Amino acid sequence: MKHAQPRLDSLGAYPFERLKALLADVQVNPDLAHIDAGAGEPRLPLPGFVRETLDAHISGFSRYPPSRGILALREAIAAWLMRRYGLVSINPDTQVLTANGTREALFTVAHALVNPDFFHRKPFEKPFVLMPNPMYQIYLGAAVTAGAQPYFMPCTPETGYAPDLNAVPQDVWQRTAFVYVCSPSNPTCWVADTAYYKQLLTLADTHDFYIVADECYSEIYQDMPPAGLLEVCQQSGNKDFSRCLVMNSLSKRSALPGMRSGFIAGDTQLIARFAKLRSYTGSATPLPLQHIAAAAWSDETHVEQQRHIYRQSLRMFFEAYGEGEPPVGSFFAWLPVSDGEAFAAAAFEQQTVTVLPGSYLSADDADGCNPGAGYIRAALVDGPEKAAELARRLKNVRF
Ligand SMILES: Cc1ncc(COP(=O)(O)O)c(C=O)c1O
Repeated sequence: MKHAQPRLDSLGAYPFERLKALLADVQVNPDLAHIDAGAGEPRLPLPGFVRETLDAHISGFSRYPPSRGILALREAIAAWLMRRYGLVSINPDTQVLTANGTREALFTVAHALVNPDFFHRKPFEKPFVLMPNPMYQIYLGAAVTAGAQPYFMPCTPETGYAPDLNAVPQDVWQRTAFVYVCSPSNPTCWVADTAYYKQLLTLADTHDFYIVADECYSEIYQDMPPAGLLEVCQQSGNKDFSRCLVMNSLSKRSALPGMRSGFIAGDTQLIARFAKLRSYTGSATPLPLQHIAAAAWSDETHVEQQRHIYRQSLRMFFEAYGEGEPPVGSFFAWLPVSDGEAFAAAAFEQQTVTVLPGSYLSADDADGCNPGAGYIRAALVDGPEKAAELARRLKNVRF
């Protein structure tokens, strides 16, 4: 069919569209104020420097912004990476790119890294893009539309919610174009340690594939700052960050999701290739917002304040819920409830609470099992009091 779009058509509706459809005809309990724990959208106060910087650079709205990002922003990002991960050096010109939020970068990257023709043999074989399951759904959409075959790595209690590298067959590694790794993870809250990243780096060298690390929850943690892929590259002697791209964002770290500001850092060649692709897609963050972003990467005070609020929210949630513990990273509660979809509908009806069914963030494995189906995800983004109230209400859901 001339106008068919089989790759796009093979994708299901986006999770929040599915959630809207699930809850469309459900009547909420009118006696309770709505708590929206569905979207992972931080709702904390704006850091003070945002307005000041906007005022100082407002005339920038009358100019086209550079898609690579202004040098001041790339320098602020490079300086942050050196402080946060102890990097000896990272070049803001050749190893850092800015993005209009990491969502678009995580999607577009597949189109820069996958060669859909490479494995065109008989029988027809597509390259694999490996991803955790459950996962941030952009990985799936990106892999499919780039002409790759998604390969799901189940993250279950049995694997400690890690995507198990040892369970991937050799022939899959040989056909792998790249691996998405998400740490701290949305939605399971798993955090990669140094040994995990080291093993992945060794596999990437052995089997000639790339690694895309989504680290956008890196600053939301309990005690220990999570390891970063670039830092582990440096420790492993991979000083050029060869084969690796890391993405991070101001959306979670600075509670600025509406700014649409993130970055990509790592391997010079991959950055150059990605920069070329982005120069065609043309998405660049407006200049005044790039200046605010530079200020945000240069300030840790607001990040510490927000981290403190997330810690309290998670602690109060789990105290009130009475089961489970605050995760070491991210601001989610990933809760086993046996049937996530039925639970989410009942929670909306009985308790006027929106949570996301885990199955909307996961895919069926080859054997037909869906590792997210028995879970819900609650985003604790409204501060400690609401987190505790949310936990009490979820406890009272009957279905
Ligand atoms: C795991 C993960 N990666 C990336 C993003 C994208 O964030 P942004 O595009 O706002 O940088 C999100 C947003 O929810 C996310 O949960």
